[in-house]
Amino acid sequence: MEKLLIRGQNRLKGSLQIHGAKNSVLPIMAATLLSGNCVIHNCPRLTDVDAACNILSFLGAKNKREGDSILVQEATGDYCCIPDDLMRMMRSSIVFLGAIIAKCGEARISMPGGCELGPRPIDLHLAALEKLGVSIEEDHGYLNCRVKERLHGAKIALPFPSVGATENILIAATLAEGETIIQNAAREPEITDLAAFLIACGAKINLTKDGGLRVEGVKSLHPAEHRVIPDRIAAATYLSCAAATGGDVLLTDVCTEHLSAVLPCFEEMGCQVLTTPDSIRLKSDGPLKPLRYVRTMPYPGFPTDAQSPLMAAACLAEGSSIFVENIFESRYKHVPELQRMGADIKVEGRIAVVHGVRELHSASVRCTDLRGGAAIAAAALAAQGESELLQIEHIDRGYEHFEQNLASIGADIRRLK
Ligand code: EPZ
Repeated sequence: MEKLLIRGQNRLKGSLQIHGAKNSVLPIMAATLLSGNCVIHNCPRLTDVDAACNILSFLGAKNKREGDSILVQEATGDYCCIPDDLMRMMRSSIVFLGAIIAKCGEARISMPGGCELGPRPIDLHLAALEKLGVSIEEDHGYLNCRVKERLHGAKIALPFPSVGATENILIAATLAEGETIIQNAAREPEITDLAAFLIACGAKINLTKDGGLRVEGVKSLHPAEHRVIPDRIAAATYLSCAAATGGDVLLTDVCTEHLSAVLPCFEEMGCQVLTTPDSIRLKSDGPLKPLRYVRTMPYPGFPTDAQSPLMAAACLAEGSSIFVENIFESRYKHVPELQRMGADIKVEGRIAVVHGVRELHSASVRCTDLRGGAAIAAAALAAQGESELLQIEHIDRGYEHFEQNLASIGADIRRLK
């Protein structure tokens, strides 16, 4: 098992280039099943991306990496089954479902289990696919999906703007007969990126007046080349590390607009935030101020994925901050680990009250999930002494060259194999 050793209290200073968005690459890779022979640029080296490559290979679509690009060949054969071991490697493998059904007319995948964020049902995905003409049966932990002839367009009103469900519907509907309207669709930048890729492949997608998505089905998609958007959550994480350590960090290759709900939080904490459309500089000197309320919301609200890293910084604010987690039931698993480092946090249901402390101290801590792990790293970077971070495979799912990046801006961090 690998671990990270972090000796804290180095002020982070320097510049970092932000990699492509994990949560864009994954659905785009799934969508390449429909178009074949695509080149996707700005693909971060992450274990989740490796898992998506393995799934594509299993489904007959050979793929290879060249630098930060992934070349995906047209799938040979109609492989429509994802076995349990591959499904379990990555919860978001569910986003392959719409693509497999649209390509093969059938799919057999194992149920993605619940995960570290609490139960993560897929009822919205399945109900939407049924509306598009898919019949779905459960069979000993597997889902057997079948379409009679071709998928058909439908009006789908999502009760919640689920990111994954919107992606599955969007991908499947591109090849459905007729028009699909997705009301209350998720609006995350990763959805817009997926739509941009599909449009480049010949899909007909546009926005409805009320912000929903209209997809006019086409017979086939063609190959395309696409550059993935920058990872806004990686950016928010490094900004949190900079804020927590009293740093001065410049992020390049970001899309500042995608962080419009996040940057005001750093300003509220007293950091200076200087932006251009594709760069963000955060300067933090002096003690951090508390945050009045951070409520996680679907985009364009404050992203749930940035809640834990920001909380790590808030642990050191001069006063109390309140967080309200509205997206996932169980997204405070990092809290007990932060408490081991001396953080004063009280959790009551969806609410966490963070009373700032003067100093955090080192501890042996576990990365509880991807973003929780990043939060613990941010806290360790600010803490006095050397912390040991275990279960860092979670961090490797979403942050490329995590320790190299942080070391390049002055962190004392090393990985023990
Ligand atoms: C995506 O997950 C992201 N994952 C998550 O990022 C992110 O936290 C989340 O969107 C919200 O922004 C990827 O893009 C790969 P949802 P997803 O469907 O699609 C409930 C990270 O750290 N729900 O919008 O799974 C669900 O339980 C990851 O990078 C249903 O009830 O999120 C949750 O409470 C973690 N039924 C809420 O909706 C469904 O069928 C939001 O889920 C689907 C979802």
